[in-house]
Amino acid sequence: MSAEVAGTIARVRAWREDHRLAGRRVGFVPTMGALHEGHARLIETARRNGDQVIVSVFVNPLQFDRKDDLERYPRTFEADLRLCSALGVQLVFAPSVGEMYPAEPMCTVSVKRITERLCGQFRPGHFDGVATVVTKLFDIVQPDVAYFGEKDAQQLAVIRRMVRDLDMPVEIVGVSTVREPDGLALSSRNARLSADERSKSTALYRALRDAERAIAAGERDARAVERRAAAVIPPDASLRLEYLEVVDPVELQRVDTIAGTVLVAGALWVGSTRLIDNITCDPSRKAASEP
Ligand code: PAF
Repeated sequence: MSAEVAGTIARVRAWREDHRLAGRRVGFVPTMGALHEGHARLIETARRNGDQVIVSVFVNPLQFDRKDDLERYPRTFEADLRLCSALGVQLVFAPSVGEMYPAEPMCTVSVKRITERLCGQFRPGHFDGVATVVTKLFDIVQPDVAYFGEKDAQQLAVIRRMVRDLDMPVEIVGVSTVREPDGLALSSRNARLSADERSKSTALYRALRDAERAIAAGERDARAVERRAAAVIPPDASLRLEYLEVVDPVELQRVDTIAGTVLVAGALWVGSTRLIDNITCDPSRKAASEP
């Protein structure tokens, strides 16, 4: 059965109210479209949990710090709808920019501290845009539970904290990253890579795995881990490491000595495409097997 497409907030509210009256749990997967296996895993997790599933497809202008990135963001709505329908999604909320932002917002949501490092240093305003649109979407959909990919670890941490601080009545579920067989984390942005760039794009994952191995082997100096992992990125004119940092997994603050579980996260430019990835390392555990 084809998923219903809703373009208006009013339709989503009516759909939500029907499920409330019927006592059904609603699971929400917010996306910007260009859906891939990573999104499919979020939807499947929601379906397995027995939720009525709503997916939003909205390329949120507020979270783009660069105009060209917003313009180049892949848009594949027909394919997205087919995937949602095949996976048993009930409603696809695909609002226009005017429906979401009839006027320039004067009220935005900003999460401090967690947004200071990693991507936050390089994408001014990005996480305010994410927190603002997710707040609006939660208010419109009023889900019981919402699903987010662990690939966007900083986004997930921001949303968890926002929900906690603002007492939002929604459970947040993080879903593990889906990877290509060579380790590249699935991302809508991968579609922009040329064949040559695609072959170089695994450098970030290899660097993260190097960090994981170093920690598993007993390295406790976070700067040393960062240095040796960064050295895994080959000198290549089309590759530029934006950051690779060892941080605590909750507030994402830099750690000096690795004493407990840490998040190792990085961003790598491959040509004009920016890729992010991360790996969680528990120093008491051995590194996972290749890749
Ligand atoms: O992860 C994304 O696709 C977006 O940041 C989100 C959560 C849908 C907000 O626009």
